[in-house]
Amino acid sequence: MVAIDGPMGSGKGTVARLVARALGFRHVDTGAMYRAVAWKALREGVPLDDLQAVAELARRTRVDLDTEPEGNRVWCDGEDVTDAIRSVQVNAAVRRVAANAGVRSVLTERQRSLAREGGVVVEGRDIGTVVLPDADLKVYLVASLDERARRRWQELRARGEDVSLEAVRELVREDDEAAQTRAVAPLRRAEDAVVVDSTSRSPEEVAEEIARLVRSRVARGG
Ligand code: DC
Repeated sequence: MVAIDGPMGSGKGTVARLVARALGFRHVDTGAMYRAVAWKALREGVPLDDLQAVAELARRTRVDLDTEPEGNRVWCDGEDVTDAIRSVQVNAAVRRVAANAGVRSVLTERQRSLAREGGVVVEGRDIGTVVLPDADLKVYLVASLDERARRRWQELRARGEDVSLEAVRELVREDDEAAQTRAVAPLRRAEDAVVVDSTSRSPEEVAEEIARLVRSRVARGG
């Protein structure tokens, strides 16, 4: 089990996928699970400040992920929501869903059961600290704020969204603050996590470094 955590724009998603491919592991994007719950809450009109109602919704919602490293499909109760969970509306709502302790406990259990068989790269914000404290390798992926903002800006522009780099920089800063200061499962480095800096490096280089770390741990029998 490999845990990869890090802030918005650190490159977690791309890197986790490449690591899974290099090792022949499955890939679990836990952010997609929070996004699917947020998407459904918006669709059903459940108020996000009704913590119990949103947690209850999470409990009765089935979220399926394509865990093949090449795949990225996400289904909510059997409906393909791969694109819908990346919308502006979901981006704005998901932070509040992720701050809901009831939702977190439901999704944490599901993430653990997906990881139970091993051979998996699990990516998120609290994987090394809360979800899989016994992971074989924990990586805390970082990059400078400027670089993370630039990556996120390019992603949004590629999707046809007309936003300024300055506005995206502000969004990334806000997301950092929300993730680090929330009461439940805040984003922080696990004490035994290896810090990997992806600033000015390609995802391939970073993934290769992480795959090497996994192989050397396995070779040491750890
Ligand atoms: O990585 P992402 O942008 O798809 O994550 C979506 C949201 O869910 C983001 O606000 C962070 C949050 N999240 C979380 O709190 N814990 C996780 N394990 C994964 C994501």
